[in-house]
Amino acid sequence: QSKRLFPYSIALIGFMGTGKTTIAEDLAEKLEMRSVDIDTLIQEKMGMTIGEIFENYGEAHFRKMESDTVEELSVERNMILSCGGGVVLSPYNVMNLKKNSKTVLLRALPETIHKRLQGDSSRPLLKGKMHLEHIEDLLEKRKPLYNEAADFIVDTDGKTIDEISKEIIKKL
Ligand code: S3P
Repeated sequence: QSKRLFPYSIALIGFMGTGKTTIAEDLAEKLEMRSVDIDTLIQEKMGMTIGEIFENYGEAHFRKMESDTVEELSVERNMILSCGGGVVLSPYNVMNLKKNSKTVLLRALPETIHKRLQGDSSRPLLKGKMHLEHIEDLLEKRKPLYNEAADFIVDTDGKTIDEISKEIIKKL
């Protein structure tokens, strides 16, 4: 079977804990494409964790690095991009992503997100606020931005990684 070459990249967007990084890796394997995690790139550039960047330089600095990284990657194709949950906060990021990527919104119920992120301290926006109400609030605020940015939507609740990836591939 010949390898499919995509004339675009696939950008996974969605709230924290919707499985973007995991699905990106699975898709990359299935489609034989390179997977790039934007948060990982930022951490490598800075030599520190996302938490440390927020603490030492503030969220605005992180957002600037995020935008720069999205802009750099927006000229490339045939990659799986795993975006941070807040990438849609900037219309400039969304515009850049859409240049050469199909944007796939991964969704999950707040309860599912809450469960998946329990005990995970790597997300500064949830630091000390890892409770359902906070997740619901943030999700509600961002919902229109996610929907607006998405070329298509995949719900992840109760599905396996394999099922989710196959659903995405079918829709490409
Ligand atoms: C953020 C999500 C995180 C990370 C940062 C901010 C957000 O990425 O970029 O903590 O604003 O939703 P994940 O969605 O991979 O957790």
